[in-house]
Amino acid sequence: MKAKLLIALVLLSVSLLAQEAPPNVPQYTKDGELIKPENYREWIYLSSGLGMTYGAPIAKQEDEDFDNVFVTPQAYKAFLATGTWPDKTIMALEVRYSASKGSINKGGRFQDRLAGVEIHLKDEARFPATKWAFFGFNGPETTAKPLAADSVCQKCHSSNGAVDETFVQFYPTLLPVAKAKGTFKSGTEK
Ligand code: HEC
Repeated sequence: MKAKLLIALVLLSVSLLAQEAPPNVPQYTKDGELIKPENYREWIYLSSGLGMTYGAPIAKQEDEDFDNVFVTPQAYKAFLATGTWPDKTIMALEVRYSASKGSINKGGRFQDRLAGVEIHLKDEARFPATKWAFFGFNGPETTAKPLAADSVCQKCHSSNGAVDETFVQFYPTLLPVAKAKGTFKSGTEK
């Protein structure tokens, strides 16, 4: 009797743990919107850009934003082993305003308020034409529709991204892995 109770308790706690652990795979609403992965800050950190632009440079330093890039832990591990991304990879680009006046700071810039979160994810069954899809969360919304397959996001990423339409040329821990595994697209070097 006691043993049965113990087994039941163990099973219960295992299932509670399983429910608590965030699965870190894309989750959608019934009408196909992505549910914002709120825990992206618990993922693996890849890099930060400051004031990166792909057209005219930003004139004023005050207008330069930071971006912080994160990827799901299981996708990061797979990349280290293969030099490319597995299905269900999710990457987050968090944009934050920069500031210089605050507390003891006398020079340089630090990260400030959140401006938005963009998602780039690989879901081969759901997006068979491009394999990847892009989503933007720029306000309080918790779900977002996929951006069009011919969006500017898709165009820039697929023509300029170093590995599988992602910007590995700017992610210092992954760049040498991609080079060693031979997955780095030539012509996209810094
Ligand atoms: C003109 C080129 C360009 C366009 C257009 C563009 N991006 Fe990017 N994107 C970049 C670059 C460069 C980086 C690397 C940023 C860094 O190093 O911090 C990046 C990184 C990202 C990342 C991090 C994961 C990855 O793929 O490397 C996400 C997510 C992302 N962009 C989403 C978007 C979304 C959503 C749009 C459209 C609304 C978009 N991007 C449009 C150039 C572009």
